Amino acid sequence: MGKEFKNIMVGYEPICEVRLDGKSYTISHVVDKEDIYVDFNGKEPYLKKIIKPSEERIYDGCPFFKECGGCDFQHIRYSYEVALKKKYLNDLFAFLSLRNPIEILSMYEDLHYRNKCQMVYKLSKSKKVVTGLYEEKTHKIVPVTECLLHPTKVNQIITAINHILSKNKILPYDERTRLGVLRHIFIRYGFNTKQVMLVLVTNGEMFPGRNNVVKDILKLDLGIDTIVQNFNSRDTSIVLGDRERTLYGPGFIYETIGEYKFKISSQSFFQINTMGMKKLYDLALSKAKLQPMDTVIDAYCGVGTISIFASKYVKKVIGVELNKQAVADAKINAKINHIANINFVVADATDFMIQLSENRTNIDVVILDPPREGSTKQCINAIGKLKPRRVIYISCEPKTLKRDLYFFFDNGYKVEYMEAVDMFPRTIHIECVCVLTKNEKLSKIIF
Ligand SMILES: C[S@@+](CC[C@H](N)C(=O)[O-])C[C@H]1O[C@@H](n2cnc3c(N)ncnc32)[C@H](O)[C@@H]1O
Repeated sequence: MGKEFKNIMVGYEPICEVRLDGKSYTISHVVDKEDIYVDFNGKEPYLKKIIKPSEERIYDGCPFFKECGGCDFQHIRYSYEVALKKKYLNDLFAFLSLRNPIEILSMYEDLHYRNKCQMVYKLSKSKKVVTGLYEEKTHKIVPVTECLLHPTKVNQIITAINHILSKNKILPYDERTRLGVLRHIFIRYGFNTKQVMLVLVTNGEMFPGRNNVVKDILKLDLGIDTIVQNFNSRDTSIVLGDRERTLYGPGFIYETIGEYKFKISSQSFFQINTMGMKKLYDLALSKAKLQPMDTVIDAYCGVGTISIFASKYVKKVIGVELNKQAVADAKINAKINHIANINFVVADATDFMIQLSENRTNIDVVILDPPREGSTKQCINAIGKLKPRRVIYISCEPKTLKRDLYFFFDNGYKVEYMEAVDMFPRTIHIECVCVLTKNEKLSKIIF
């Protein structure tokens, strides 16, 4: 049984609701105002035919798009995706009544932009080692031979390594039985340095035949600078475990962004879009209006990239980050770039801000770039007590940014400007740069 639905309504996410016999169903991969035909015969209804396609629909997107949960927008023109993102952000932040609409810095390369690529291993029906990606919201592995978001070189490396692993009869891990060796392939690629780090994630330390695998990989001369074995025997879809050993090379790679060089290890956070990263930092720093005598906090600083970019404009930067390895890398990054005015601290950003506010430390500008969960009310209250002249909030999740803005309002700050950088083309994710300043009128009333 099937049914036609005309002129469907699709919001930011590429899904629509359809109803049959009083029941509601969600259909994915659709575009606003299309006429579609939905098949209701199977377990789950599915989009059988697009009767009247949108002019924004494209047909040369990824062949794995329908099954793989990695992308959201492989079926529409990139210009339309950017327009959708712009509308989404302007609707979400309409309550700010900003003087200018929120603009989006789009990317020159909307494909092949990821510098961190990961895939999961499985055994094919013909007993070959193949790679795949998880189906949306499930643990079902969809075999994927190449990902359009990966650099072409990375796709070639993954294919070559699959052959080597099959030849050496290394068994992929089976989530149900928890047996087998290989779990994931994880590659970091330096777009500017062309360096490649290969990480093979295994089910614990055991990796029979690993010397032969390494020898075979090196023989192919794939341009791999370092090979790492990461141990992950936990029952989890998180790719990397905590421990690893280096099988070849130094165990890390370098990448350059603008005039700076960065050391990247497997575990450290590094923005996944190298070209976008420079645009993001240039935007954030141009809005920070830094002064030569300023002390700046870079909260959630990762491997210290923003601290390093900010350092040449100010007297002092303090970078705070929870991940010990990232801070170790940040210290090395400052050293290799001959920068001496940054102090990196391993700490929870909230605890650190509270401590600074209790010590009444003088802070001029705070840059904060938290993970998707956003910051905390306590952290923002502490920032409020420190009274920095400007706060630059870089957010990869507009919804938590919106929540956190209210905590800033409670502390007498107002949003002066917001702009977004499309760091994650072909997905619904988007990075915002929000500039907050002291609301002088309000401060006089409240404080
Ligand atoms: C979105 S990343 C930003 C990293 C860096 N600013 C950059 O541009 O590369 C967020 C960082 O926050 C760190 N982090 C997560 N929770 C934290 C916390 N409670 N306190 C401090 N850092 C935290 C993560 O380890 C990660 O490095």
